[in-house]
Amino acid sequence: MTKKKAKKAPEISSGDGKNYAPKAAKKSFTQNLLQWNAEQNTRQMPWKGEPDPYKIWLSEIILQQTRVEQGWAYYLRFIEKYPTLPQLAQATDNEVFKLWEGLGYYSRCRNLLVAARTVVDHFNGQFPKDYNAILALKGVGPYTAAAIASFAFGLPYAVVDGNVIRVLARYFGIHTPFDTGSGKKFFEALAQDLLEKDKAGIYNQAIMDFGAVVCKPVSPLCDECPLKKSCYAFKHQEMAGLPVKAKSISKKQRWFTCFVITGPQGKLVRQRNQKDIWQHLYEFVMVEGLEAIEWNSQACKKWIRQNTAIPVESLTKTVRLTQQLTHQTVHVQFQDATTFYQGDVPGHAWVQDHELARLAFPRIIRKYLDAPMPGQGRLL
Ligand code: ADE
Repeated sequence: MTKKKAKKAPEISSGDGKNYAPKAAKKSFTQNLLQWNAEQNTRQMPWKGEPDPYKIWLSEIILQQTRVEQGWAYYLRFIEKYPTLPQLAQATDNEVFKLWEGLGYYSRCRNLLVAARTVVDHFNGQFPKDYNAILALKGVGPYTAAAIASFAFGLPYAVVDGNVIRVLARYFGIHTPFDTGSGKKFFEALAQDLLEKDKAGIYNQAIMDFGAVVCKPVSPLCDECPLKKSCYAFKHQEMAGLPVKAKSISKKQRWFTCFVITGPQGKLVRQRNQKDIWQHLYEFVMVEGLEAIEWNSQACKKWIRQNTAIPVESLTKTVRLTQQLTHQTVHVQFQDATTFYQGDVPGHAWVQDHELARLAFPRIIRKYLDAPMPGQGRLL
């Protein structure tokens, strides 16, 4: 296990010399938030109030980079199939990847398996109760560790994610960019200071819910917000300008061609072993280019022959799909090809169409398989 940094004692400095949150303002924020939670928060989710740290951990891993609406059904399927942590730890990688299929960010799934097996091997199958031990588990960062530690064990660690930053920046009028080293530290310290220490789990879930249902990124429900009287952003009508971001991310563009080769024994698949977002998933024969490759039929046949030794009989439909991820846009041109070849191709397997459903594919490939669209071009 690698050691990750534990939280330091809070120290609040925004870097611009302003005291954004005097003691009384902080106290009133926390009290009003908890009151909203007790009286008006009707948000229900299957992991809310869950006492089992295994299920809490599972929900938090699923919710990293995934919207609640999408993660919900996955969470229920996981706890139904693996009701306890040892059951998950004993499952095969492929089984778990298949259940994760479509959620994306597959490193989470790889880490989930590593962490489950660590808990079985080093903690006798009992989820660790200590913040630093939780933080040391693969795939668990400070946010997830704080969520698990507070929800499962009532430990006083504040969660800090996009929702929390937005709520704090707007309420206290913080213009310090949150995506710099010092900005992050400032928000962490403020969040930790605001935490109601003896109700850490309730407070953390309340601020997450408040950010998701009231203080939303776009069209926040200010009219019905019980915190609006003391909210800086509401007073100055600056909801859209807060929080402040220093860097704008430019999305990386990735261009793939995916050869879907069908022979007498089925389609040619392989397991992806490059260390990237799709590691361990199944794929067809893929090639990545620096930009969109305009293949003609001769070039396609030549490439396939050189890379798989397969003689292509004919090239049929071409389908282009695009997938938006947080940090990259993935463009895939699917090129169907047929062959009479039925020999082995090292590192690959021929799989019948009805067996493809058992394998975990990247989402964009599954989309192609589930809904083949009319060809946008025909190469012959
Ligand atoms: N996002 C991450 N953890 C969450 C939780 N416990 N509830 C709602 N959204 C979340």
